[in-house]
Amino acid sequence: VAPQDLAGRRILITAGGTREPLDPVRFIGNRSSGRQGVALATAAAARGAEVTLVVANLEVEHPASIRVITVGTTAELAEVVAAEAPSHGVVIMAAAVADYRPERVAESKIKKDREGDVLELRLIRNPDILRSLADHRVQGQLIVGFAAETELDDAKLLSLGREKIARKGSDLLVINRVGWTEGFATAHNTISVVDSSGVVAAEATGTKLSVADRILDLVSAR
Ligand code: C5P
Repeated sequence: VAPQDLAGRRILITAGGTREPLDPVRFIGNRSSGRQGVALATAAAARGAEVTLVVANLEVEHPASIRVITVGTTAELAEVVAAEAPSHGVVIMAAAVADYRPERVAESKIKKDREGDVLELRLIRNPDILRSLADHRVQGQLIVGFAAETELDDAKLLSLGREKIARKGSDLLVINRVGWTEGFATAHNTISVVDSSGVVAAEATGTKLSVADRILDLVSAR
């Protein structure tokens, strides 16, 4: 049995990747599988937390015992997070959120015979959920963000993470490298966690479940 160090704590976790529809059958999305977010939810529940898991386009099963809310787009995720966050002492934004959405969604399937050889899409910036969570933080709330980056240089990756936590205003930021073969959709992960003063609070590599426990150690200590 896991230690019950998170007993009585309410934790909101987002997992997966949002998708933005182009037409009734197509979307713009990302390759997040939701594994790291589901691992966080599983580990937190095992340590006694009351978990709410908000999932977008999961590729893995989620534990049946956890309260789950399903969303698709960034706007839907934003709405659920805004409604749920005030009743949770900890919010972990592990979801890969689509930064842009198509300016308009076609009512019927986009046809190549009508569009010709070049199809232009205009995309509109989505609201930053993490940033507005931190801006409207409930007193005493702990907010954890993620940074999925393709930067290969360790020092540059860390400075990207430090800039990002300063911009977002979260308490912790989990930096993880992603790419064609890393990060998304794999069973393992390598992370560094920085705090709001830019100090590296933890580094971990291993299964997504073991990485989740290292992140939760920091949550538990705060
Ligand atoms: O800016 P970037 O997308 O790299 O930030 C990643 C972090 O911010 C993740 O925690 C992600 O869940 C969150 N995010 C968000 N809303 C967005 C984009 C990212 O909450 N529109």
